[in-house]
Amino acid sequence: MQDILSLLKLAATVLVPAVTVKAQCPDYSIYSQQRHEPFSTGKYSLPYMRPEPACRMFNSSDVEDAIVAMKDVIKDPDLYRLFENSFPNSLDTAVKWKGVSASNAEEELTFLITGDINAMWLRDSANQMQSYLTLLKPNTSTSSLASLYRGVINLQARYILSAPHCNSFQPPIESGLSPTRNQELPDNFTPPISNATVFECKYELDSLAAFLEISTNYYQATGDVAFFARFEWVRAVQIILETTEALLVGMYASNGSVNAVPYTWMRTTTSGTETLSNSGRGNPVQDGTGLVRSAFRPSDDATIYQLFIPANMMFSRYLDSASEIMAAIGGQRNLANHMHNFSQSIRRAVTQHGIVNDPTYGQVYAFEVDGFGSANRMDDANIPSLLSAPFIGYLNATDAVYQNTRRFILSKDNPYYMRGPVINAVGGPHVSFGYAWPMASIVRIFTTSSASEIQTTLTELVSSTAGLGLIHESINCFDEGDWTRQWFSWANGLFGQCLLDLKERVPGVLGASYQ
Ligand SMILES: *[C@@H]1O[C@H](CO)[C@@H](O)[C@H](O)[C@H]1NC(C)=O
Ligand SMILES: *[C@@H]1O[C@H](CO)[C@@H](O)[C@H](O)[C@H]1NC(C)=O
Ligand SMILES: *[C@@H]1O[C@H](CO)[C@@H](O)[C@H](O)[C@H]1NC(C)=O
Ligand SMILES: *[C@@H]1O[C@H](CO)[C@@H](O)[C@H](O)[C@H]1NC(C)=O
Ligand SMILES: *[C@@H]1O[C@H](CO)[C@@H](O)[C@H](O)[C@H]1NC(C)=O
Ligand SMILES: *[C@@H]1O[C@H](CO)[C@@H](O)[C@H](O)[C@H]1NC(C)=O
Repeated sequence: MQDILSLLKLAATVLVPAVTVKAQCPDYSIYSQQRHEPFSTGKYSLPYMRPEPACRMFNSSDVEDAIVAMKDVIKDPDLYRLFENSFPNSLDTAVKWKGVSASNAEEELTFLITGDINAMWLRDSANQMQSYLTLLKPNTSTSSLASLYRGVINLQARYILSAPHCNSFQPPIESGLSPTRNQELPDNFTPPISNATVFECKYELDSLAAFLEISTNYYQATGDVAFFARFEWVRAVQIILETTEALLVGMYASNGSVNAVPYTWMRTTTSGTETLSNSGRGNPVQDGTGLVRSAFRPSDDATIYQLFIPANMMFSRYLDSASEIMAAIGGQRNLANHMHNFSQSIRRAVTQHGIVNDPTYGQVYAFEVDGFGSANRMDDANIPSLLSAPFIGYLNATDAVYQNTRRFILSKDNPYYMRGPVINAVGGPHVSFGYAWPMASIVRIFTTSSASEIQTTLTELVSSTAGLGLIHESINCFDEGDWTRQWFSWANGLFGQCLLDLKERVPGVLGASYQ
Protein backbone atom coordinates (compact mmCIF):
# COMPACT_ATOMS: atom_id res chain seq x y z
CA MET A 1 0.00 0.00 0.00
CA GLN A 2 1.47 3.33 -1.09
CA ASP A 3 1.34 6.33 1.20
CA ILE A 4 -0.73 9.35 0.23
CA LEU A 5 2.23 11.59 -0.62
CA SER A 6 3.71 9.20 -3.13
CA LEU A 7 0.25 8.65 -4.62
CA LEU A 8 -0.14 12.38 -5.04
CA LYS A 9 3.29 12.67 -6.64
CA LEU A 10 2.35 9.94 -9.08
CA ALA A 11 -0.92 11.75 -9.76
CA ALA A 12 0.99 14.92 -10.60
CA THR A 13 3.13 13.13 -13.17
CA VAL A 14 0.16 11.58 -14.98
CA LEU A 15 -2.17 14.54 -14.71
CA VAL A 16 -4.56 15.01 -17.63
CA PRO A 17 -6.04 18.48 -18.06
CA ALA A 18 -8.32 18.80 -15.06
CA VAL A 19 -11.38 20.98 -15.01
CA THR A 20 -10.33 24.46 -14.01
CA VAL A 21 -13.21 26.85 -13.63
CA LYS A 22 -12.12 30.45 -13.74
CA ALA A 23 -11.89 32.19 -10.41
CA GLN A 24 -14.46 34.80 -11.46
CA CYS A 25 -17.08 32.18 -12.34
CA PRO A 26 -20.15 32.62 -10.14
CA ASP A 27 -21.16 29.96 -7.63
CA TYR A 28 -24.01 28.11 -9.37
CA SER A 29 -25.97 27.73 -6.14
CA ILE A 30 -26.38 31.52 -6.23
CA TYR A 31 -26.48 31.89 -10.03
CA SER A 32 -29.38 29.41 -10.17
CA GLN A 33 -31.50 31.66 -7.94
CA GLN A 34 -31.22 34.72 -10.19
CA ARG A 35 -32.89 35.37 -13.55
CA HIS A 36 -30.41 35.84 -16.42
CA GLU A 37 -31.05 37.34 -19.86
CA PRO A 38 -32.12 36.74 -22.54
CA PHE A 39 -35.66 35.79 -21.51
CA SER A 40 -37.82 33.40 -23.53
CA THR A 41 -40.58 34.98 -25.61
CA GLY A 42 -43.52 33.03 -24.10
CA LYS A 43 -45.76 34.21 -21.30
CA TYR A 44 -43.49 32.75 -18.58
CA SER A 45 -40.53 34.79 -19.84
CA LEU A 46 -38.06 32.18 -18.62
CA PRO A 47 -34.44 33.22 -18.08
CA TYR A 48 -31.34 31.67 -19.66
CA MET A 49 -29.74 29.68 -16.84
CA ARG A 50 -26.69 28.04 -18.41
CA PRO A 51 -23.38 29.35 -17.11
CA GLU A 52 -21.41 31.33 -19.68
CA PRO A 53 -19.27 28.99 -21.85
CA ALA A 54 -16.00 29.72 -20.06
CA CYS A 55 -17.59 28.62 -16.76
CA ARG A 56 -18.95 25.26 -17.96
CA MET A 57 -17.38 22.19 -16.38
CA PHE A 58 -17.50 19.90 -19.42
CA ASN A 59 -18.12 20.59 -23.10
CA SER A 60 -19.74 18.10 -25.44
CA SER A 61 -20.43 19.00 -29.04
CA ASP A 62 -22.88 16.06 -29.20
CA VAL A 63 -24.93 17.61 -26.40
CA GLU A 64 -24.78 21.07 -28.01
CA ASP A 65 -25.93 19.55 -31.33
CA ALA A 66 -28.83 17.79 -29.59
CA ILE A 67 -29.92 21.07 -27.98
CA VAL A 68 -29.87 22.85 -31.34
CA ALA A 69 -31.70 19.98 -33.07
CA MET A 70 -34.56 20.15 -30.54
CA LYS A 71 -35.23 23.79 -31.42
CA ASP A 72 -37.08 22.67 -34.55
CA VAL A 73 -39.05 20.05 -32.60
CA ILE A 74 -40.17 21.94 -29.48
CA LYS A 75 -42.40 24.71 -30.77
CA ASP A 76 -43.30 26.37 -27.48
CA PRO A 77 -40.67 29.00 -26.54
CA ASP A 78 -40.97 28.45 -22.78
CA LEU A 79 -40.85 24.66 -23.02
CA TYR A 80 -37.78 24.93 -25.26
CA ARG A 81 -36.07 27.28 -22.81
CA LEU A 82 -36.72 24.88 -19.94
CA PHE A 83 -35.18 22.08 -22.04
CA GLU A 84 -32.19 24.19 -23.04
CA ASN A 85 -31.45 25.11 -19.42
CA SER A 86 -32.04 21.74 -17.84
CA PHE A 87 -30.65 19.12 -20.24
CA PRO A 88 -26.95 20.14 -20.08
CA ASN A 89 -27.07 21.00 -16.36
CA SER A 90 -24.93 18.08 -15.13
CA LEU A 91 -22.21 18.75 -17.71
CA ASP A 92 -22.36 22.51 -17.23
CA THR A 93 -22.25 22.47 -13.45
CA ALA A 94 -21.60 19.08 -11.82
CA VAL A 95 -18.41 17.64 -13.36
CA LYS A 96 -16.38 18.85 -10.44
CA TRP A 97 -13.21 16.98 -11.40
CA LYS A 98 -12.06 14.64 -14.14
CA GLY A 99 -8.69 12.92 -14.13
CA VAL A 100 -7.02 9.55 -13.74
CA SER A 101 -6.19 7.18 -10.92
CA ALA A 102 -2.89 7.71 -9.09
CA SER A 103 -2.16 4.01 -9.33
CA ASN A 104 -3.07 3.53 -13.01
CA ALA A 105 -2.92 6.36 -15.53
CA GLU A 106 -5.25 4.41 -17.85
CA GLU A 107 -8.04 4.40 -15.27
CA GLU A 108 -10.23 7.47 -15.87
CA LEU A 109 -12.07 8.99 -12.90
CA THR A 110 -15.00 11.42 -12.88
CA PHE A 111 -16.13 13.13 -9.68
CA LEU A 112 -19.72 14.10 -10.47
CA ILE A 113 -21.48 16.05 -7.74
CA THR A 114 -25.22 16.07 -7.12
CA GLY A 115 -25.46 19.86 -7.51
CA ASP A 116 -25.79 22.08 -4.47
CA ILE A 117 -24.09 19.50 -2.22
CA ASN A 118 -20.39 18.95 -2.92
CA ALA A 119 -20.49 15.14 -2.82
CA MET A 120 -21.06 12.29 -5.29
CA TRP A 121 -24.09 10.05 -4.78
CA LEU A 122 -23.99 6.62 -6.46
CA ARG A 123 -27.65 6.97 -7.47
CA ASP A 124 -27.53 10.57 -8.66
CA SER A 125 -24.31 10.22 -10.64
CA ALA A 126 -25.54 7.09 -12.48
CA ASN A 127 -28.77 8.88 -13.36
CA GLN A 128 -27.09 12.18 -14.20
CA MET A 129 -25.07 10.28 -16.83
CA GLN A 130 -28.20 8.51 -18.05
CA SER A 131 -29.53 11.86 -19.32
CA TYR A 132 -26.92 11.66 -22.10
CA LEU A 133 -27.32 7.94 -22.85
CA THR A 134 -28.90 8.40 -26.27
CA LEU A 135 -25.82 10.42 -27.31
CA LEU A 136 -23.29 7.91 -25.97
CA LYS A 137 -21.05 6.26 -28.59
CA PRO A 138 -17.81 4.30 -28.36
CA ASN A 139 -14.95 6.79 -28.03
CA THR A 140 -11.47 6.52 -26.48
CA SER A 141 -10.92 10.29 -26.25
CA THR A 142 -10.73 11.66 -22.69
CA SER A 143 -12.93 14.57 -23.77
CA SER A 144 -15.82 12.33 -24.85
CA LEU A 145 -19.06 11.46 -23.09
CA ALA A 146 -17.80 7.85 -23.12
CA SER A 147 -14.81 8.91 -21.04
CA LEU A 148 -17.08 10.70 -18.59
CA TYR A 149 -19.08 7.47 -18.23
CA ARG A 150 -15.95 5.36 -17.71
CA GLY A 151 -14.74 7.81 -15.09
CA VAL A 152 -18.00 7.58 -13.13
CA ILE A 153 -18.03 3.77 -13.32
CA ASN A 154 -14.40 3.50 -12.16
CA LEU A 155 -14.89 5.91 -9.28
CA GLN A 156 -18.12 4.20 -8.22
CA ALA A 157 -16.29 0.85 -8.24
CA ARG A 158 -13.64 2.34 -5.96
CA TYR A 159 -16.31 3.73 -3.63
CA ILE A 160 -18.19 0.42 -3.48
CA LEU A 161 -15.01 -1.50 -2.71
CA SER A 162 -14.21 0.87 0.14
CA ALA A 163 -17.71 1.23 1.61
CA PRO A 164 -20.45 -0.91 0.03
CA HIS A 165 -23.13 0.24 2.49
CA CYS A 166 -22.76 3.95 1.77
CA ASN A 167 -24.74 6.26 -0.51
CA SER A 168 -22.64 9.38 -0.95
CA PHE A 169 -18.91 10.00 -1.19
CA GLN A 170 -16.10 12.53 -0.84
CA PRO A 171 -13.81 13.59 -3.73
CA PRO A 172 -11.04 11.14 -4.71
CA ILE A 173 -7.63 11.93 -3.26
CA GLU A 174 -6.22 12.59 -6.76
CA SER A 175 -8.54 15.58 -7.21
CA GLY A 176 -6.92 17.56 -4.41
CA LEU A 177 -10.45 18.69 -3.42
CA SER A 178 -11.24 18.78 0.30
CA PRO A 179 -13.93 16.65 1.85
CA THR A 180 -17.20 18.30 2.86
CA ARG A 181 -18.66 18.22 6.37
CA ASN A 182 -22.14 16.68 6.55
CA GLN A 183 -23.51 16.50 10.10
CA GLU A 184 -22.31 18.52 13.07
CA LEU A 185 -22.42 15.41 15.24
CA PRO A 186 -20.93 12.25 13.72
CA ASP A 187 -23.36 9.50 12.66
CA ASN A 188 -23.18 6.22 14.55
CA PHE A 189 -23.20 3.32 12.09
CA THR A 190 -21.71 -0.11 11.46
CA PRO A 191 -19.55 -1.04 9.72
CA PRO A 192 -17.74 2.27 10.41
CA ILE A 193 -16.06 4.24 7.59
CA SER A 194 -13.93 7.37 7.69
CA ASN A 195 -15.66 10.66 6.91
CA ALA A 196 -12.68 11.47 4.65
CA THR A 197 -14.00 8.79 2.24
CA VAL A 198 -17.71 8.93 2.79
CA PHE A 199 -20.04 11.94 2.89
CA GLU A 200 -22.95 9.87 4.17
CA CYS A 201 -23.34 6.17 4.87
CA LYS A 202 -27.02 5.39 4.49
CA TYR A 203 -27.42 1.87 3.16
CA GLU A 204 -29.77 2.00 0.15
CA LEU A 205 -30.10 -1.03 -2.09
CA ASP A 206 -30.75 1.20 -5.09
CA SER A 207 -27.26 2.76 -4.76
CA LEU A 208 -25.74 -0.62 -5.60
CA ALA A 209 -28.32 -1.11 -8.35
CA ALA A 210 -27.26 2.28 -9.77
CA PHE A 211 -23.73 0.97 -10.36
CA LEU A 212 -25.16 -1.97 -12.31
CA GLU A 213 -27.45 0.44 -14.17
CA ILE A 214 -24.70 2.77 -15.39
CA SER A 215 -22.56 -0.25 -16.25
CA THR A 216 -25.37 -1.75 -18.34
CA ASN A 217 -26.01 1.59 -20.03
CA TYR A 218 -22.37 2.06 -20.99
CA TYR A 219 -21.98 -1.54 -22.16
CA GLN A 220 -25.14 -1.60 -24.27
CA ALA A 221 -24.30 1.71 -25.96
CA THR A 222 -20.62 1.02 -26.65
CA GLY A 223 -20.09 -2.77 -26.57
CA ASP A 224 -16.82 -1.92 -24.81
CA VAL A 225 -16.47 -5.19 -22.90
CA ALA A 226 -12.69 -4.79 -22.57
CA PHE A 227 -13.23 -1.80 -20.27
CA PHE A 228 -15.04 -3.96 -17.71
CA ALA A 229 -12.20 -6.47 -17.57
CA ARG A 230 -9.46 -3.89 -17.06
CA PHE A 231 -10.03 -2.22 -13.70
CA GLU A 232 -11.99 -2.97 -10.52
CA TRP A 233 -15.38 -3.71 -12.05
CA VAL A 234 -15.44 -7.49 -11.46
CA ARG A 235 -14.31 -7.08 -7.85
CA ALA A 236 -16.95 -4.41 -7.26
CA VAL A 237 -19.67 -6.76 -8.52
CA GLN A 238 -18.37 -9.51 -6.21
CA ILE A 239 -18.61 -7.10 -3.26
CA ILE A 240 -22.13 -6.11 -4.30
CA LEU A 241 -23.17 -9.79 -4.30
CA GLU A 242 -21.60 -10.44 -0.90
CA THR A 243 -23.18 -7.31 0.56
CA THR A 244 -26.68 -7.91 -0.76
CA GLU A 245 -26.71 -11.65 -0.02
CA ALA A 246 -25.82 -10.88 3.60
CA LEU A 247 -28.82 -8.54 3.64
CA LEU A 248 -31.28 -11.31 2.82
CA VAL A 249 -31.18 -12.08 6.55
CA GLY A 250 -34.35 -11.77 8.65
CA MET A 251 -34.62 -10.67 12.27
CA TYR A 252 -34.89 -14.17 13.78
CA ALA A 253 -33.21 -17.45 12.91
CA SER A 254 -35.48 -20.49 12.65
CA ASN A 255 -34.68 -21.51 16.25
CA GLY A 256 -35.80 -18.04 17.43
CA SER A 257 -32.38 -16.55 18.10
CA VAL A 258 -31.95 -12.91 17.06
CA ASN A 259 -29.78 -12.58 13.98
CA ALA A 260 -26.94 -10.09 13.81
CA VAL A 261 -27.62 -7.55 11.04
CA PRO A 262 -24.72 -6.53 8.78
CA TYR A 263 -25.61 -2.82 8.92
CA THR A 264 -26.89 -0.47 11.61
CA TRP A 265 -27.38 3.30 11.64
CA MET A 266 -28.23 5.97 14.20
CA ARG A 267 -28.14 9.73 13.78
CA THR A 268 -28.58 12.44 16.37
CA THR A 269 -31.62 14.14 14.87
CA THR A 270 -35.13 15.40 15.51
CA SER A 271 -36.38 13.76 12.29
CA GLY A 272 -37.78 10.22 12.49
CA THR A 273 -36.85 9.46 8.86
CA GLU A 274 -33.14 10.17 9.48
CA THR A 275 -32.52 7.40 11.98
CA LEU A 276 -33.45 3.74 12.53
CA SER A 277 -35.48 2.26 15.38
CA ASN A 278 -34.45 -0.77 17.45
CA SER A 279 -30.93 0.47 18.17
CA GLY A 280 -30.16 1.20 14.54
CA ARG A 281 -31.48 -2.07 13.12
CA GLY A 282 -34.89 -0.90 11.91
CA ASN A 283 -38.19 -2.75 12.15
CA PRO A 284 -38.07 -6.56 12.04
CA VAL A 285 -38.40 -8.44 8.75
CA GLN A 286 -39.20 -12.10 8.17
CA ASP A 287 -36.38 -14.50 7.35
CA GLY A 288 -36.22 -16.34 4.04
CA THR A 289 -38.36 -14.09 1.83
CA GLY A 290 -35.68 -13.78 -0.87
CA LEU A 291 -35.98 -9.97 -0.80
CA VAL A 292 -32.90 -7.86 -0.06
CA ARG A 293 -33.21 -5.37 2.79
CA SER A 294 -32.78 -1.64 2.34
CA ALA A 295 -32.36 0.56 5.40
CA PHE A 296 -33.10 3.72 3.43
CA ARG A 297 -35.07 4.76 0.37
CA PRO A 298 -33.74 6.67 -2.66
CA SER A 299 -35.01 9.82 -0.92
CA ASP A 300 -32.39 9.05 1.78
CA ASP A 301 -35.29 8.60 4.25
CA ALA A 302 -35.47 5.48 6.42
CA THR A 303 -37.71 2.68 5.22
CA ILE A 304 -40.57 1.66 7.49
CA TYR A 305 -40.29 -1.96 6.34
CA GLN A 306 -36.88 -2.81 4.94
CA LEU A 307 -38.14 -5.12 2.20
CA PHE A 308 -38.39 -2.15 -0.13
CA ILE A 309 -39.99 -3.29 -3.39
CA PRO A 310 -38.86 -0.61 -5.92
CA ALA A 311 -35.15 -1.12 -5.11
CA ASN A 312 -35.56 -4.91 -5.29
CA MET A 313 -37.14 -4.46 -8.74
CA MET A 314 -34.32 -2.22 -9.90
CA PHE A 315 -31.59 -4.41 -8.44
CA SER A 316 -33.06 -7.55 -10.01
CA ARG A 317 -33.40 -5.91 -13.40
CA TYR A 318 -29.86 -4.51 -13.56
CA LEU A 319 -28.22 -7.52 -11.94
CA ASP A 320 -29.58 -9.55 -14.83
CA SER A 321 -28.42 -7.13 -17.54
CA ALA A 322 -25.01 -6.77 -15.87
CA SER A 323 -24.70 -10.57 -15.83
CA GLU A 324 -24.47 -10.30 -19.63
CA ILE A 325 -21.40 -8.08 -19.26
CA MET A 326 -19.91 -10.61 -16.85
CA ALA A 327 -20.61 -13.44 -19.28
CA ALA A 328 -18.99 -11.48 -22.15
CA ILE A 329 -15.79 -10.77 -20.21
CA GLY A 330 -14.56 -14.36 -20.49
CA GLY A 331 -13.56 -16.64 -17.64
CA GLN A 332 -16.41 -15.40 -15.43
CA ARG A 333 -19.20 -17.84 -16.36
CA ASN A 334 -19.90 -18.88 -12.77
CA LEU A 335 -20.14 -15.33 -11.58
CA ALA A 336 -22.42 -14.44 -14.50
CA ASN A 337 -24.70 -17.41 -13.71
CA HIS A 338 -24.71 -16.49 -10.06
CA MET A 339 -25.86 -12.94 -10.94
CA HIS A 340 -28.58 -14.22 -13.24
CA ASN A 341 -29.81 -16.73 -10.63
CA PHE A 342 -29.90 -14.15 -7.87
CA SER A 343 -31.77 -11.73 -10.13
CA GLN A 344 -34.42 -14.34 -10.92
CA SER A 345 -34.81 -15.30 -7.29
CA ILE A 346 -35.42 -11.65 -6.31
CA ARG A 347 -37.98 -11.33 -9.12
CA ARG A 348 -39.85 -14.37 -7.78
CA ALA A 349 -39.75 -12.89 -4.28
CA VAL A 350 -41.14 -9.54 -5.49
CA THR A 351 -44.05 -11.38 -7.10
CA GLN A 352 -44.63 -13.59 -4.06
CA HIS A 353 -44.31 -10.99 -1.28
CA GLY A 354 -44.61 -7.61 -3.01
CA ILE A 355 -48.14 -7.87 -4.47
CA VAL A 356 -51.16 -7.22 -2.27
CA ASN A 357 -54.88 -7.13 -2.93
CA ASP A 358 -56.68 -3.80 -2.71
CA PRO A 359 -60.50 -3.70 -2.56
CA THR A 360 -60.63 -0.72 -4.98
CA TYR A 361 -57.64 -1.17 -7.27
CA GLY A 362 -57.23 -4.95 -7.31
CA GLN A 363 -53.77 -6.52 -7.23
CA VAL A 364 -51.15 -3.82 -6.66
CA TYR A 365 -47.47 -3.64 -5.78
CA ALA A 366 -46.75 -2.63 -2.19
CA PHE A 367 -44.05 -0.01 -1.55
CA GLU A 368 -42.52 -1.89 1.37
CA VAL A 369 -43.32 -5.16 3.11
CA ASP A 370 -41.98 -6.90 6.21
CA GLY A 371 -42.62 -10.50 5.16
CA PHE A 372 -44.82 -11.00 8.25
CA GLY A 373 -47.88 -9.77 6.32
CA SER A 374 -47.65 -6.02 6.80
CA ALA A 375 -47.35 -3.73 3.80
CA ASN A 376 -46.71 -0.01 3.47
CA ARG A 377 -49.03 1.21 0.72
CA MET A 378 -47.69 4.44 -0.78
CA ASP A 379 -45.27 5.72 -3.39
CA ASP A 380 -42.46 8.26 -3.11
CA ALA A 381 -41.19 10.62 -5.80
CA ASN A 382 -37.61 9.43 -5.99
CA ILE A 383 -36.44 6.82 -8.51
CA PRO A 384 -36.70 3.89 -8.04
CA SER A 385 -40.37 4.24 -7.15
CA LEU A 386 -43.30 1.98 -7.98
CA LEU A 387 -44.38 4.53 -10.61
CA SER A 388 -40.96 4.17 -12.28
CA ALA A 389 -41.09 0.34 -12.59
CA PRO A 390 -41.35 0.48 -16.43
CA PHE A 391 -38.78 3.30 -16.61
CA ILE A 392 -36.22 1.16 -14.79
CA GLY A 393 -37.09 -1.68 -17.18
CA TYR A 394 -38.48 -4.10 -14.60
CA LEU A 395 -41.81 -4.54 -16.37
CA ASN A 396 -43.86 -3.12 -19.22
CA ALA A 397 -46.21 -0.21 -18.63
CA THR A 398 -49.02 -2.41 -19.94
CA ASP A 399 -48.55 -4.90 -17.07
CA ALA A 400 -51.93 -5.28 -15.35
CA VAL A 401 -50.62 -5.14 -11.77
CA TYR A 402 -48.55 -2.08 -12.70
CA GLN A 403 -51.59 -0.36 -14.21
CA ASN A 404 -53.60 -0.97 -11.02
CA THR A 405 -50.68 0.31 -8.96
CA ARG A 406 -50.32 3.40 -11.16
CA ARG A 407 -54.01 4.29 -10.73
CA PHE A 408 -53.57 4.01 -6.97
CA ILE A 409 -50.33 6.08 -6.95
CA LEU A 410 -51.90 8.94 -8.92
CA SER A 411 -54.94 9.15 -6.65
CA LYS A 412 -55.87 10.61 -3.29
CA ASP A 413 -55.51 7.09 -1.86
CA ASN A 414 -51.71 7.36 -2.09
CA PRO A 415 -50.76 9.10 1.19
CA TYR A 416 -47.98 10.99 -0.64
CA TYR A 417 -49.83 12.14 -3.77
CA MET A 418 -49.77 15.94 -3.54
CA ARG A 419 -52.53 18.01 -5.11
CA GLY A 420 -53.21 21.69 -5.70
CA PRO A 421 -53.65 24.43 -8.29
CA VAL A 422 -49.92 24.73 -9.13
CA ILE A 423 -48.79 21.13 -9.62
CA ASN A 424 -50.08 17.62 -8.93
CA ALA A 425 -47.51 14.88 -8.41
CA VAL A 426 -46.13 12.34 -6.00
CA GLY A 427 -44.08 13.82 -3.14
CA GLY A 428 -42.74 12.13 -0.03
CA PRO A 429 -41.73 12.54 3.59
CA HIS A 430 -38.31 13.95 2.62
CA VAL A 431 -39.70 17.45 2.08
CA SER A 432 -43.13 16.72 3.59
CA PHE A 433 -46.83 17.25 2.99
CA GLY A 434 -48.07 19.57 0.28
CA TYR A 435 -44.88 19.57 -1.79
CA ALA A 436 -45.07 17.79 -5.16
CA TRP A 437 -41.88 16.64 -6.89
CA PRO A 438 -41.33 17.53 -10.57
CA MET A 439 -39.22 14.37 -10.81
CA ALA A 440 -42.40 12.34 -10.24
CA SER A 441 -44.21 14.39 -12.90
CA ILE A 442 -41.41 13.46 -15.31
CA VAL A 443 -41.71 9.77 -14.42
CA ARG A 444 -45.45 10.03 -15.01
CA ILE A 445 -44.68 11.24 -18.56
CA PHE A 446 -42.14 8.46 -19.14
CA THR A 447 -44.71 5.84 -18.19
CA THR A 448 -47.65 6.87 -20.38
CA SER A 449 -48.32 7.33 -24.06
CA SER A 450 -51.48 9.36 -23.51
CA ALA A 451 -50.90 12.73 -25.23
CA SER A 452 -53.43 14.51 -23.01
CA GLU A 453 -51.86 13.17 -19.78
CA ILE A 454 -48.42 14.21 -21.06
CA GLN A 455 -49.57 17.69 -22.07
CA THR A 456 -51.31 18.32 -18.75
CA THR A 457 -48.16 17.28 -16.91
CA LEU A 458 -45.84 19.34 -19.14
CA THR A 459 -48.11 22.37 -18.66
CA GLU A 460 -47.66 22.10 -14.89
CA LEU A 461 -43.88 21.70 -15.21
CA VAL A 462 -43.42 24.71 -17.51
CA SER A 463 -45.64 26.96 -15.41
CA SER A 464 -44.21 26.13 -11.97
CA THR A 465 -40.52 27.10 -12.02
CA ALA A 466 -41.09 30.37 -10.12
CA GLY A 467 -39.68 32.20 -13.13
CA LEU A 468 -36.30 30.47 -12.77
CA GLY A 469 -36.46 28.04 -15.71
CA LEU A 470 -34.94 25.10 -13.87
CA ILE A 471 -36.41 21.88 -12.43
CA HIS A 472 -36.68 22.14 -8.66
CA GLU A 473 -36.72 19.25 -6.19
CA SER A 474 -40.20 19.97 -4.84
CA ILE A 475 -42.83 22.69 -5.18
CA ASN A 476 -45.62 23.76 -2.85
CA CYS A 477 -48.79 22.68 -4.70
CA PHE A 478 -50.41 26.00 -3.75
CA ASP A 479 -47.46 28.39 -4.21
CA GLU A 480 -44.86 28.07 -6.98
CA GLY A 481 -42.65 30.57 -5.15
CA ASP A 482 -42.15 28.04 -2.35
CA TRP A 483 -39.81 25.34 -3.66
CA THR A 484 -36.72 23.38 -2.58
CA ARG A 485 -33.23 22.93 -4.13
CA GLN A 486 -32.24 25.51 -6.73
CA TRP A 487 -29.52 23.23 -8.12
CA PHE A 488 -30.59 19.58 -8.42
CA SER A 489 -28.76 18.32 -11.50
CA TRP A 490 -30.34 14.87 -11.72
CA ALA A 491 -33.91 16.24 -11.98
CA ASN A 492 -32.81 18.72 -14.64
CA GLY A 493 -31.06 16.08 -16.75
CA LEU A 494 -34.04 13.76 -16.35
CA PHE A 495 -36.33 16.42 -17.80
CA GLY A 496 -34.06 16.76 -20.84
CA GLN A 497 -33.92 12.98 -21.22
CA CYS A 498 -37.72 12.90 -21.05
CA LEU A 499 -38.16 15.40 -23.90
CA LEU A 500 -35.66 13.49 -26.06
CA ASP A 501 -37.70 10.35 -25.32
CA LEU A 502 -40.95 12.12 -26.28
CA LYS A 503 -39.39 13.15 -29.58
CA GLU A 504 -39.18 9.42 -30.43
CA ARG A 505 -42.35 8.20 -28.73
CA VAL A 506 -45.02 10.92 -28.80
CA PRO A 507 -43.54 13.75 -30.92
CA GLY A 508 -46.87 15.54 -31.35
CA VAL A 509 -46.83 16.85 -27.77
CA LEU A 510 -43.59 18.75 -28.48
CA GLY A 511 -45.31 20.68 -31.28
CA ALA A 512 -48.09 21.86 -28.92
CA SER A 513 -48.43 25.21 -27.17
CA TYR A 514 -47.95 25.46 -23.39
CA GLN A 515 -49.01 29.12 -23.11
C1 LIG B 1 -15.75 24.80 -22.56
O1 LIG B 1 -15.64 25.62 -23.70
C2 LIG B 1 -15.39 27.01 -23.40
C3 LIG B 1 -15.33 27.76 -24.71
O2 LIG B 1 -16.55 27.61 -25.39
C4 LIG B 1 -14.10 27.15 -22.66
O3 LIG B 1 -13.88 28.49 -22.32
C5 LIG B 1 -14.15 26.30 -21.39
O4 LIG B 1 -12.91 26.34 -20.73
C6 LIG B 1 -14.47 24.86 -21.76
N1 LIG B 1 -14.59 24.07 -20.53
C7 LIG B 1 -13.83 23.01 -20.29
C8 LIG B 1 -14.04 22.32 -19.01
O5 LIG B 1 -12.97 22.62 -21.08
C1 LIG C 1 -14.61 11.35 -29.72
O1 LIG C 1 -14.86 12.42 -28.84
C2 LIG C 1 -14.16 13.61 -29.14
C3 LIG C 1 -14.44 14.60 -28.01
O2 LIG C 1 -15.83 14.77 -27.83
C4 LIG C 1 -14.60 14.13 -30.50
O3 LIG C 1 -13.87 15.28 -30.84
C5 LIG C 1 -14.38 13.04 -31.54
O4 LIG C 1 -14.91 13.46 -32.78
C6 LIG C 1 -15.05 11.75 -31.11
N1 LIG C 1 -14.68 10.69 -32.03
C7 LIG C 1 -15.57 9.96 -32.66
C8 LIG C 1 -15.04 8.88 -33.54
O5 LIG C 1 -16.78 10.13 -32.53
C1 LIG D 1 -14.72 14.11 10.40
O1 LIG D 1 -15.07 13.84 11.74
C2 LIG D 1 -14.29 14.54 12.69
C3 LIG D 1 -14.70 14.05 14.06
O2 LIG D 1 -16.06 14.24 14.28
C4 LIG D 1 -14.50 16.05 12.50
O3 LIG D 1 -13.69 16.76 13.39
C5 LIG D 1 -14.17 16.42 11.07
O4 LIG D 1 -14.48 17.79 10.84
C6 LIG D 1 -14.95 15.58 10.10
N1 LIG D 1 -14.55 15.88 8.73
C7 LIG D 1 -15.45 16.00 7.75
C8 LIG D 1 -14.91 16.29 6.38
O5 LIG D 1 -16.64 15.87 7.92
C1 LIG E 1 -29.85 -20.93 16.46
O1 LIG E 1 -29.60 -20.73 15.06
C2 LIG E 1 -28.53 -19.85 14.79
C3 LIG E 1 -28.49 -19.56 13.28
O2 LIG E 1 -28.67 -20.74 12.54
C4 LIG E 1 -27.25 -20.44 15.30
O3 LIG E 1 -26.15 -19.56 15.03
C5 LIG E 1 -27.37 -20.64 16.80
O4 LIG E 1 -26.24 -21.29 17.29
C6 LIG E 1 -28.60 -21.46 17.15
N1 LIG E 1 -28.76 -21.41 18.59
C7 LIG E 1 -29.08 -22.48 19.29
C8 LIG E 1 -29.20 -22.26 20.77
O5 LIG E 1 -29.25 -23.56 18.78
C1 LIG F 1 -28.25 -21.32 -10.68
O1 LIG F 1 -29.45 -22.01 -10.40
C2 LIG F 1 -29.53 -23.27 -11.01
C3 LIG F 1 -30.91 -23.84 -10.80
O2 LIG F 1 -31.48 -23.41 -9.60
C4 LIG F 1 -28.43 -24.17 -10.43
O3 LIG F 1 -28.45 -25.42 -11.06
C5 LIG F 1 -27.08 -23.52 -10.66
O4 LIG F 1 -26.06 -24.25 -10.01
C6 LIG F 1 -27.07 -22.11 -10.14
N1 LIG F 1 -25.81 -21.50 -10.56
C7 LIG F 1 -25.14 -20.66 -9.80
C8 LIG F 1 -23.85 -20.16 -10.38
O5 LIG F 1 -25.52 -20.30 -8.71
C1 LIG G 1 -42.20 -6.08 -22.46
O1 LIG G 1 -42.94 -6.56 -23.56
C2 LIG G 1 -42.14 -7.04 -24.62
C3 LIG G 1 -43.04 -7.36 -25.80
O2 LIG G 1 -44.18 -8.06 -25.38
C4 LIG G 1 -41.32 -8.23 -24.13
O3 LIG G 1 -40.49 -8.71 -25.16
C5 LIG G 1 -40.47 -7.79 -22.96
O4 LIG G 1 -39.77 -8.90 -22.41
C6 LIG G 1 -41.31 -7.16 -21.88
N1 LIG G 1 -40.42 -6.59 -20.87
C7 LIG G 1 -40.47 -6.91 -19.58
C8 LIG G 1 -39.48 -6.22 -18.70
O5 LIG G 1 -41.29 -7.69 -19.15
